[in-house]
Amino acid sequence: MKFEELSFDKAPVLKSEIPGPSSRKILNLQEKLEGRTVSYPKSSPIAFAQGFGATIKDVDGNIFIDFFSGAGVLALGHCNPYVEEKVIEIQKNITHTLDFPTEIRLELVEKIQKVLPGDLKNNSKIVFGGPTGSDSVESAFKLSKVITKRHGIIAFEGAYHGMTSGALALTSGKFWKEHYLPLIPEVHFIPYAYSYRCPFKTKTAKECANASADYYEHVLEDPHSGIVDPAMTIIEPIQGEGGSIFPHNSFVKRIADISTKYEIPLVFDEIQAGFCRTGKFFSSEHSGASPDIMTMSKALGGGYPLSAIAYRKDLDVWSKAAHIGTFRGNVTAMAAGSISIDFMLENNLTHYVEELGNYLLKKLEKCEKKSSIIGEVRGKGLMIGIEVVEDKESKKPSPELCSKIRDEMFQKGVIIEIGGHYNNVLRFLPPLIITKTIAETGVDICIEAIEKIENE
Ligand SMILES: Cc1ncc(COP(=O)(O)O)c(C=O)c1O
Repeated sequence: MKFEELSFDKAPVLKSEIPGPSSRKILNLQEKLEGRTVSYPKSSPIAFAQGFGATIKDVDGNIFIDFFSGAGVLALGHCNPYVEEKVIEIQKNITHTLDFPTEIRLELVEKIQKVLPGDLKNNSKIVFGGPTGSDSVESAFKLSKVITKRHGIIAFEGAYHGMTSGALALTSGKFWKEHYLPLIPEVHFIPYAYSYRCPFKTKTAKECANASADYYEHVLEDPHSGIVDPAMTIIEPIQGEGGSIFPHNSFVKRIADISTKYEIPLVFDEIQAGFCRTGKFFSSEHSGASPDIMTMSKALGGGYPLSAIAYRKDLDVWSKAAHIGTFRGNVTAMAAGSISIDFMLENNLTHYVEELGNYLLKKLEKCEKKSSIIGEVRGKGLMIGIEVVEDKESKKPSPELCSKIRDEMFQKGVIIEIGGHYNNVLRFLPPLIITKTIAETGVDICIEAIEKIENE
């Protein structure tokens, strides 16, 4: 398949001021009608009319490059015809079945099992939950409680696991939690191997990984660490919302080995970094470590809401209806997910993503060297983080400069979001079918925006 045919020919194309008059009208109506929690249009004020591949047309006819892909959902781009044809065919026949089997459901389960990492491959059980990633995190927690008959959880600093009460308890961002405490008890956060800001003040990524893993082992080993053996440890093998953080490849393997040693079920959250995003089918493959349980969502449903967990067959110890929900596997999403896995394999998407990601990363690294406000550029595949600081010496995070760069990019026709511990990381997360030309155009706009803001 030619990826050129999956997006608008030319992007960005700007025809009006941004936001244009029609966008403003719709945004105003949204503000009147919807609650205050609406967030993305506050930073990228735009009303969408049509999405196509890695590009989006707004209601004023402007075409944007999409470096956000619906928070990673649209791995195969907006309205990929290969996916949509299958969706339309299925929707004529069946749309909702709870967990009654359909051919398409089991076709998807078999395909997932073939692409799973490590010990899970062809040796796992799949459970579909409610349609969001958060629900799969909840189910992983419930399963691990049944397995271990224990309660607590170890999670990592910088983690994002979702917004339902259980998943929120495992999410590290204070802003999201402060009004809702107490959440579930006995959740403990261990430093992640975030080498740019390693809390152990190590010099290299490997040393940071070792120090963090050593600390994890310490809290499990020391009878006075204050942390009773938990029901599970949950980790994003590559962190997303925490600021696109890529630990040294040794880190996740060490966490896995330590978890095995202390008999703690280990959950890999692949909701954001899974399904080819980082140049491997799942991000844990960079480390070679195997999880006991793995969460999936976002790209799993090929653009439609779907989530699931996969776990080792021998851990299938819970009972009928132990985790239920009305939308336990939406047929449309399952059809889209199934055809998406075919697309990923047929187009050798991991290879494409790795090559394009390396190319773009090199360009951005050159920008990092020249710039006084880019502390670090880091990435794997098409997940790249650009950490914005006041100056390289102090590394003081600059959320202000970061949002100015994001705003400038938006004015020039590129949509990108921000994340990170201090909201100071530009997070490049485009659809994986983005062409080299569109990606490069967007990255050039990013570099120009950085230079402009730096020189203001
Ligand atoms: C790693 C990770 N886990 C869990 C979630 C929660 O998924 P959802 O927003 O679908 O509930 C997200 C969402 O961004 C995520 O990135």
